[in-house]
Amino acid sequence: MGQKRVLSGVQPTGSLHLGNYLGALRTWVSEQYEYENYFFIADLHAITVPHDPKVLAENTYTLAALYLACGLDINHTTIFVQSQISAHAELAWLFNCITPLNWLQRMIQFKEKAIKQGEDVSIGLLDYPVLQAADILLYQADLVPVGEDQKQHLELTRDIAARFNFQFGKPKAPVLKIPEPLIRPEGARVMSLTDGTKKMSKSDPSEQSRINLLDTPENIKKKIKRCKTDLKRGLTFDDPERPECQNLLTLYMLLSGQSKSAVAAECAEMGWGQFKPLLTETTIEALRPIQEKYRDLTEDRSYIKAILQQGREQAEGVAQQTLQAAKDALGFARE
Ligand code: TRP
Repeated sequence: MGQKRVLSGVQPTGSLHLGNYLGALRTWVSEQYEYENYFFIADLHAITVPHDPKVLAENTYTLAALYLACGLDINHTTIFVQSQISAHAELAWLFNCITPLNWLQRMIQFKEKAIKQGEDVSIGLLDYPVLQAADILLYQADLVPVGEDQKQHLELTRDIAARFNFQFGKPKAPVLKIPEPLIRPEGARVMSLTDGTKKMSKSDPSEQSRINLLDTPENIKKKIKRCKTDLKRGLTFDDPERPECQNLLTLYMLLSGQSKSAVAAECAEMGWGQFKPLLTETTIEALRPIQEKYRDLTEDRSYIKAILQQGREQAEGVAQQTLQAAKDALGFARE
């Protein structure tokens, strides 16, 4: 009792990489005992851009297994698949009818993705943040850990909740809880290996730009060997002209668990030829336990399915309650 509820999700597209792990999952895991947690797989969001039906389920199970392999503990955390709980889509529809179109047209992520899609852009892509609001508000979440790129969507979620409560709730009994962003300390923003000014991203067409959690040691070695660096000697966090240098030192710091000052001192005199093997070794060692656990967990698909079934039952109860309260507030006939 009394623990705040945290909720977040990841789309089952592409593979999870170090940016996802160090920027999000690792903190979900390390802070899970302080909260009541709902972490889901956002497969409905994954079809807002063209997708391949042959791999959607596979990617969903892989992501669920990675949640567990990274250390989420099902005694503290409900893990579930968004599309298996129909309340998400239903509440999104109800919200569609109270959300002004221009709130969505303003969304930066929509504008960026829509440009890439050209003529083919779907209504789902525009509506994506409304579904995200439904994801969050269904569970009456107190806190939503979000990165920079999702802040605007959380703001929109808060606006939708406030509007719904104002229009349809009673002043002293709001239907929806207004969530707060859970902002994490600086330093966990991992950049691309090919361009230190861009975020490491699943959607970057270049595999070389990221290290995936399931990359083999040989692959990791190759990627680090080829990653972008510069010609200066000595490594530092503090030179804004050297974004790659900052990024690789940050990676080393996060993966080795050392403090910034310890890493700065250790690497101050190093050249890339000395640093890269060190980073390679550290990365392989940091990922080894996750990869081993992942292999154990996926030996038997039925295990992951059982966990997701359990998560679904738990999540469904909470989601249905909120959906019913929202429908009641909107005045639908009960039976
Ligand atoms: N849009 C998020 C992303 O791409 C994923 C997501 C969907 C999410 N629903 C959510 C995150 C609800 C937090 C809360 O990263």
